[in-house]
Amino acid sequence: MQNVVIIGASSGMGLEVARLFLVRGCRLGVAARREDRLLALKQEAPDRVVTAVIDVTAPDASSRLRSLISGLGGMDLFFYASGIGKQNRTLTPEIELNTMNTNAVGFTRMLGEAYRYFAERGQGHIAVISSIAGTKGLGPAPAYSATKALQNVYIQALEQQANARGLDIRFTDIRPGFVDTDLLSGDFRYPMMLKPGKVARQIVAAIDHRRHVAVLDWKYAILTPLWRLLPRPLWRRLRL
Ligand SMILES: NC(=O)c1ccc[n+]([C@@H]2O[C@H](COP(=O)([O-])OP(=O)(O)OC[C@H]3O[C@@H](n4cnc5c(N)ncnc54)[C@H](OP(=O)(O)O)[C@@H]3O)[C@@H](O)[C@H]2O)c1
Repeated sequence: MQNVVIIGASSGMGLEVARLFLVRGCRLGVAARREDRLLALKQEAPDRVVTAVIDVTAPDASSRLRSLISGLGGMDLFFYASGIGKQNRTLTPEIELNTMNTNAVGFTRMLGEAYRYFAERGQGHIAVISSIAGTKGLGPAPAYSATKALQNVYIQALEQQANARGLDIRFTDIRPGFVDTDLLSGDFRYPMMLKPGKVARQIVAAIDHRRHVAVLDWKYAILTPLWRLLPRPLWRRLRL
């Protein structure tokens, strides 16, 4: 029976993955800002779910994570599903800065705390939902695509550092395409939309198989290397 901490378990893919781990009999430490959503999840298995209100942008988020881990009785898997994302075609400063603060600063804060915990303990597994959006800079969502690229590179850097230090910490970078969650709600219609329940099952499989990088689903796994190959002069002319 694994102890799993999930940051961003109040909705979307984090919530779906939490439910799959509960079906397996895992014990969960779940966190996000919306406490009512976390308490509703706890009702599904009151003896096996510990909740914590954590805002990853707040300086006390690291100590709250440590308390959550203690309350759970230790952590085997850290699953990071927190994030925000908005289109920002007019480059409104609040959107860019909030996105940077949540997806870059908050992400670095939380991953660092999980990494240090596993370094002290000698082993562990860190899995993150980043995105395919980090493949190239996206004009409609500059901060979102930039922070997702940051997440991809940061995980790769931690993986190398852990290896150099002889730490038995596994990393899984999960990169979904468009998924039908609250994050994408709005007027804009996205193509090739994936269902969160199905993506959650693929996420759990990627974690089980201890994949280093998992692009979801197979259609995006074919498309993203092709995007990467597009030459810069062509990419900057695309109207997305
Ligand atoms: N939907 C997609 O198409 C898609 C594709 C690729 C990658 N992703 C990534 O997948 C992750 C999960 O997103 P989702 O699609 O499942 O959307 P979602 O339903 O909006 O879930 C986002 C989660 O992040 C949490 N969160 C946001 N800001 C937070 C903060 N400051 N502190 C703590 N938790 C915070 C939210 O909880 P609270 O609001 O309760 O705090 C919520 O649980 C995100 O990183 C997103 O970038 C999404």
